Amino acid sequence: MDTKVVTVDQEKPDLQVMRMAGEILRKGGLVAFPTETVYGLGGDGLNAGSSKKIYAAKGRPSDNPLIIHIADLESLEKIVKSVPPKAKLLAEKFWPGPLTMIFSKSSRVPYETTGGLESVAVRMPSHPVALAIIREGGGYIAAPSANTSGRPSPTRAEHVCEDLTGKIDMIVDGGAVGIGLESTIVDFTEEVPVILRPGYINQEMIQEVIGPVRMDRGLLITEEKVRPKAPGMKYRHYAPKAQLTIVQGSSSQVTAYINAQCEKAVREGKKPGVIAADETVSAYRGAVVKGIGARNDEEEIARNLFAVLREFDEEDTDILFSEAFDTPRMGQAIMNRLLKAAGHHIIDLDSSF
Ligand code: TXA
Ligand code: MG
Repeated sequence: MDTKVVTVDQEKPDLQVMRMAGEILRKGGLVAFPTETVYGLGGDGLNAGSSKKIYAAKGRPSDNPLIIHIADLESLEKIVKSVPPKAKLLAEKFWPGPLTMIFSKSSRVPYETTGGLESVAVRMPSHPVALAIIREGGGYIAAPSANTSGRPSPTRAEHVCEDLTGKIDMIVDGGAVGIGLESTIVDFTEEVPVILRPGYINQEMIQEVIGPVRMDRGLLITEEKVRPKAPGMKYRHYAPKAQLTIVQGSSSQVTAYINAQCEKAVREGKKPGVIAADETVSAYRGAVVKGIGARNDEEEIARNLFAVLREFDEEDTDILFSEAFDTPRMGQAIMNRLLKAAGHHIIDLDSSF
């Protein structure tokens, strides 16, 4: 398949291009486009055939449900059974934006889109390109992250091209995304709402609006037995080709430990790599070191994380180490993605004595 790549202005996208993307979607084709979180791979969410094509293009297991993206609040009522008052409050506060909510689905939503579930995930993104494409494409666009299943989510159009060229109809290039981590997911099908995936909007911000919300147990516990409720969260994800270990502790402990491990790796004929805060990049020796952002700028760290993981796939490093980034507001989301990339391999130097 020939994949058309078209560049647009992210604030004022060319209407002709938006219409072209919309037409492809309405005819059952696939278009990748930027959102404020990561690039999405869009298809008509009410068309079972489109959803099947999405799974095929990504190589994604078909039990892993898709998020339907809408462009206005009226659209929500048509695809869900009911909207709980607390969900309405969150929508008023955070939509359009990086928040996904899960509801009981209406009969209009095919099981192909929900991975066979009775519930449906819905998000109204804030990116002008995403909103225009959703409107032109019929209003209900199923869009997972536009990566091959298992790879880091794409934060630039080039990442989408790497993974999906030849497999989809069109890629709309709107430049680098703003947030860089996927949306926060809140499940409203339970008594007490549950966060299934942490993101830019954190637990505290949600509780300020609607009171108590729980974190899904599967997110907090790394035992195999406790399955995360969002099917997508159970898969090893974002995994770089080299085994990644996260090292936690005081800054001096961490640099000393990682340097010793890198020296050992070099002695064994391996090529080590390190993911570090900009401030500590120069503290490492004998490894490929990549700065992810300033330690006090968590938004920059979040924005760069997936790109840095992808860059390490281009290097022929055999073993990777990363500092931990337990930052104040987005730390939970950043560490959730990093832990998945590391297959939960973490060394805590503070508690290892
Ligand atoms: O920021 C985002 O949410 C991006 C952009 C493109 O909007 N999309 C995204 O989609 O990250 P995806 O498919 O890569 O991740 C969706 C996650 C998966 O872990 C999936 O299992 C979960 O949401 N999910 C979707 N529908 C669900 C449902 N009905 N019940 C439980 N989990 C659900
Ligand atoms: Mg994804």
